[in-house]
Amino acid sequence: MSLKPTPVNDELFEYLKNNFSSEDLFLQNLLVEAKENEIPNISISPEQGLFMQFIIKTINAKNVLEVGTLAGYSAITMARAMPQNSKLLTIETEYKHAIFAERKIQEAGLSHIISIQNSDAIEFLKVYQDDEPLDFIFVDADKPNYAKYLDILTPKLRIGGIFAADNAFAFGFVTASKPEKRTTDVKSITGFNNYFRNHEQYSVCMVPVGDGLIMGVKIK
Ligand SMILES: C[S@@+](CC[C@H](N)C(=O)[O-])C[C@H]1O[C@@H](n2cnc3c(N)ncnc32)[C@H](O)[C@@H]1O
Repeated sequence: MSLKPTPVNDELFEYLKNNFSSEDLFLQNLLVEAKENEIPNISISPEQGLFMQFIIKTINAKNVLEVGTLAGYSAITMARAMPQNSKLLTIETEYKHAIFAERKIQEAGLSHIISIQNSDAIEFLKVYQDDEPLDFIFVDADKPNYAKYLDILTPKLRIGGIFAADNAFAFGFVTASKPEKRTTDVKSITGFNNYFRNHEQYSVCMVPVGDGLIMGVKIK
């Protein structure tokens, strides 16, 4: 047994990408096209996608909410793991991203599952209501608002449902006392990780995929 995790070097990452990835040719092309449209390359990683699909299938998630659509990569990845009669709402503030993602979702044949809300997520969530509780929430947007998303969305998540937030390793700076970049975001993420891991309504774990995925299952 090893006490320290094995670092994922380039070779291991290649191994993961080749064998344990949710990325197919469609998603590869989506990333190429997004780049051509000057949409930043900050989507979830391929092995993270497979892990999220695994969780979605495990809890039989039929009602999913995402904050931060970008080009639709993670929304398409998640929806592919959901049953046909399910729904995924993804919120995106940038019109250009929302329009691009909408087209890709149509091309992926997933418009019957995924809807995009082109709004600021905090403003939208203040008025958002759904008859059915959420099964899975994925937050991957403005880092200073992660705690607010948790507060607003927790009452809308079912017991046994999962709240997951991306970039929990804060671009690799979560342990840095003086991060080299994105100081405010790093501070927000560090604060959020502490807030979430001590939340009495969740049992929380940290998954070292991509830039860290912090996940909590709602227990009360
Ligand atoms: C890291 S990207 C999301 C990547 C996407 N989840 C994926 O993996 O394919 C973050 C996105 O969140 C959006 N965003 C940032 N702040 C937001 C807010 N307050 N409301 C909604 N979207 C926001 C950004 O415009 C950007 O497209």
